Amino acid sequence: MRAETWSAVDEWLVEAMRLDDDVLVRALAASREAGLPEIAVSAPQGRMLRLLAGQMGARRILEVGTLGGYSGICLARALPPGGKLVTLELDPRHAEVARRNFAMAGLADRVEVRVGPALESLAALERERVMPFDFTFIDADKVSSAEYVELAIRLSRPGAWIVLDNVVREGAVLLADSPNESVQGVRRAIAMLGRDPRVDATAIQTVGAKGYDGFALAVVQ
Ligand code: SAH
Ligand code: DHB
Ligand code: MG
Repeated sequence: MRAETWSAVDEWLVEAMRLDDDVLVRALAASREAGLPEIAVSAPQGRMLRLLAGQMGARRILEVGTLGGYSGICLARALPPGGKLVTLELDPRHAEVARRNFAMAGLADRVEVRVGPALESLAALERERVMPFDFTFIDADKVSSAEYVELAIRLSRPGAWIVLDNVVREGAVLLADSPNESVQGVRRAIAMLGRDPRVDATAIQTVGAKGYDGFALAVVQ
């Protein structure tokens, strides 16, 4: 099967299963108009995030890597009244687009966008002793993936979910000697999830409109 087929099937799934809506379409359009890279999760993936977070009753959700807020809208929609999404973004331009998109989606009251390097924001969350998170989606730079996983575990309650995006990268993760720092970051994160007694984890390869990639899924013990 070829990438065009994966994309065509995603388009069909989005249509047949109504995985899209005006708010999501407008959020993507606003992100594109602002010149953001088109690397948000796909609509089927966004719905998966919403279903996972909703099904496990997440009241406090953490996201690392906001971009224009597409996955954040999906996650925030899973929250019950009074729930909160804290989403971390390095680039103030991305954060600004995301804030507008959260407001457009009617979710501004339950979303906090924190601007800065995620390692610093995560350390600040740890210092502030905020309530532990029920669900974390990690989707920022891949170099620090293992550090993000470590901090997410420390910020999680037992039973919390951690989802890590982009763990396959068209198979590039196979290259143990790769000089690519992103590949090495993802490899460290995967190795850690596999042997860390604080989590029970797996990883699933995916194809679709976003190419050939995958998610790691972990439950904190
Ligand atoms: N989760 C988004 C996509 C995120 S793309 C979605 O699916 O809609 C990755 C984002 O991580 C980009 O906006 C990028 O600016 C941000 N990023 C990169 N390095 C970062 C860092 N060190 N700290 C926080 N965010 C970072
Ligand atoms: C890239 C980043 C992502 O989070 C993603 O889902 C796809 C691509 C990138 O940096 O190229
Ligand atoms: Mg991603």
